[in-house]
Amino acid sequence: MTRPLHIVILAAGQGKRMNSDKAKVLHSIAGKPMIAHVVDTAQKLAPKAIHVIVGHKAEDVQTALQAIPVNFVLQKEQLGTGHAVLQALPQIDEEADVLILSGDVPLIRQETLETLLHCSQKGADLSLLVAKVDNPHGLGRILRNPQEQIMGIVEEKDASPDIRNIQEIYTGICVAKASHLNTWLPKLSAHNAQGEYYLTEIVGLALQEHLNIQSVCVQKNFEIMGVNNRLQLQELERHYQYQQAHHLMAQGVEIADASRIDIRGHITCGKDVFIDINAVLIGTIHLADGVHIGPNCVLKDVNIGENTEILSFSDLDGAEIGPHCHIGPYARIRPGTQLADNVKIGNFVEIKKSTLGEHSKAPHLSYIGDATIGNKVNIGAGTITCNYDGANKYPTVIEDGAFIGSDTQLVAPVTIGKNATIGAGSTIRKDVPAEGLTLTEAVNKTIASWKRPQKA
Ligand code: UD1
Ligand code: CA
Repeated sequence: MTRPLHIVILAAGQGKRMNSDKAKVLHSIAGKPMIAHVVDTAQKLAPKAIHVIVGHKAEDVQTALQAIPVNFVLQKEQLGTGHAVLQALPQIDEEADVLILSGDVPLIRQETLETLLHCSQKGADLSLLVAKVDNPHGLGRILRNPQEQIMGIVEEKDASPDIRNIQEIYTGICVAKASHLNTWLPKLSAHNAQGEYYLTEIVGLALQEHLNIQSVCVQKNFEIMGVNNRLQLQELERHYQYQQAHHLMAQGVEIADASRIDIRGHITCGKDVFIDINAVLIGTIHLADGVHIGPNCVLKDVNIGENTEILSFSDLDGAEIGPHCHIGPYARIRPGTQLADNVKIGNFVEIKKSTLGEHSKAPHLSYIGDATIGNKVNIGAGTITCNYDGANKYPTVIEDGAFIGSDTQLVAPVTIGKNATIGAGSTIRKDVPAEGLTLTEAVNKTIASWKRPQKA
């Protein structure tokens, strides 16, 4: 029988080098706090429990994770990584395997952790995840004897120049039996350059007991990159984004520049989708076959039908867009909008919580809010639905085939009948019948004697 798995995630540290009022583990990669990435990966391993060690800004970290079933353990004073794990031990079964993760190493992959857990299941008493890196600065170095057996981990600040030259490092991630941690952790000393109870000292304690120490070396170093400052945060963000772009391209999406796309959520795409530069894609997004996203668009929680084209600088949020539509450039589509097939929304048009039927158009300079618009409706330039009286919002209904002349104000609640035509410049305050021309008159007046003012 396999032993129960408990996962401990270290997230109590301050992160001084971020120079931030925010807890370090709450800084985001792809719009999601680093700690949430780690917890998500931890959950995939189906552990018996996840213990998150919190301390600095503990409440903020707890709030950020409140929707996820984790056990928070308070480390009142941050006395080091070993001291942090010690706080969780009373809540961990004696016969469990304990996987220790860092809240500031967000992109660790499930498969890598499974390999490490496998070592433990095959009998290792302590399994360390290590890596070979070009720049080991700031990291714990792995000491090995001539037989390649691990002899210890030395932190940068405690390392001699010779040891600093070692490029094999400890990733901050390991698996140990709970029973061993119960003996080792109370023995940690804090006799080191930082005066902290280092978790890494357990290697020496395991050696004293002649126990079996194994290591697994990661293949892709980005997954063990830790974030201690904003430069590293940004580097990891770009790595992550590149990886996501790569994944989309493998599925047949054409991306103009994989270094200029930001995916902060989950995106699925059909075939032959094209995404131009500087797209920011947030939340849950689906782009059907042949969708074309122009440069500098922001899309959040949208579903876009096949062959629809979103032109440059458009912002779409919480909308269902049908197939064969043309949106933008400079369109703003707000939550609750539903567009049927072949709809055209042009520049400087804002649409909120409205539906537009097939082949309807609002090509220029309009505000459409709380409206239900039928098929083949033409909304002229400058049309405004006056949906708000300062206290309440009211609906506008425009039936099939209506033609709204330019610069019309539709004062809601109001209904425009089927195939009605509204003359340009009208202010419509009453329901309009089907067919015919309705307008509010504004008669031309010319003052022939009028002179333009002159500059003094
Ligand atoms: C740690 C390792 C180092 C390794 C590196 C990998 C130790 C002593 N060193 O160093 O060998 O190469 O990670 O990234 O373990 N934390 C607490 N409570 C504390 C102290 C830290 O919860 O009292 C948390 C931090 O919030 C962070 C994690 O533990 O999430 C690691 O702490 P940090 O101070 O960043 O350790 P490193 O110096 O990076
Ligand atoms: Ca760190």
